[in-house]
Amino acid sequence: MTGPFSLTGKVAVVSGGARGIGAAMLAQCGADVAIVDVLDTSEAVAAVTAQGRRGRGYAADLRDEEAVTSLFAHIVADFDGVDVVHNNAGISRCSAAEETSLAQWREVLEIDLDAVFLFARAAGRIYDRPGPWRLDHQHRLDVGNDCQLSPRTSRL
Ligand SMILES: NC(=O)c1ccc[n+]([C@@H]2O[C@H](COP(=O)([O-])OP(=O)(O)OC[C@H]3O[C@@H](n4cnc5c(N)ncnc54)[C@H](O)[C@@H]3O)[C@@H](O)[C@H]2O)c1
Repeated sequence: MTGPFSLTGKVAVVSGGARGIGAAMLAQCGADVAIVDVLDTSEAVAAVTAQGRRGRGYAADLRDEEAVTSLFAHIVADFDGVDVVHNNAGISRCSAAEETSLAQWREVLEIDLDAVFLFARAAGRIYDRPGPWRLDHQHRLDVGNDCQLSPRTSRL
């Protein structure tokens, strides 16, 4: 890929890159990619290596503070640095509030808030020098949205 979206020559880390948007975005961008996911990353890694780039998968549940803290040390050692971090992992629940358990609600918060924070913090700590680097958040947590919290029409 050329042009403004090219990451040729860069090292990118993507959370939740085993499938979906994270896998699709970084396979084509020209970067070497470290793919972090709780799911099997082999297909996403193969899509990166098919482009002639380095790809490597890292198994982690991003709610696990210890796992996330040690993750970036491994990635930096394997790729000799990181240029771009795509904080993409997340879940969406499409259920009405009255049909959603507290455990399900908390799972959304744990992944879409806590895990995003842990990943951003761990990424930020590897930069002991000024940029250029980028930290992209794919995230959006729709809490307090009228449509989602009103009875019957509410969706998480
Ligand atoms: N698809 C959309 O229309 C849309 C819209 C708005 C926001 N988003 C957000 O964009 C991001 C990507 O969306 P998508 O459609 O590709 O979703 P997806 O479900 O296809 O991919 C999300 C990935 O995150 C991973 N993941 C989830 N929890 C994890 C955890 N605890 N630890 C490690 N990995 C974990 C999943 O295994 C999966 O591979 C998500 O954060 C989603 O909430 C998506």
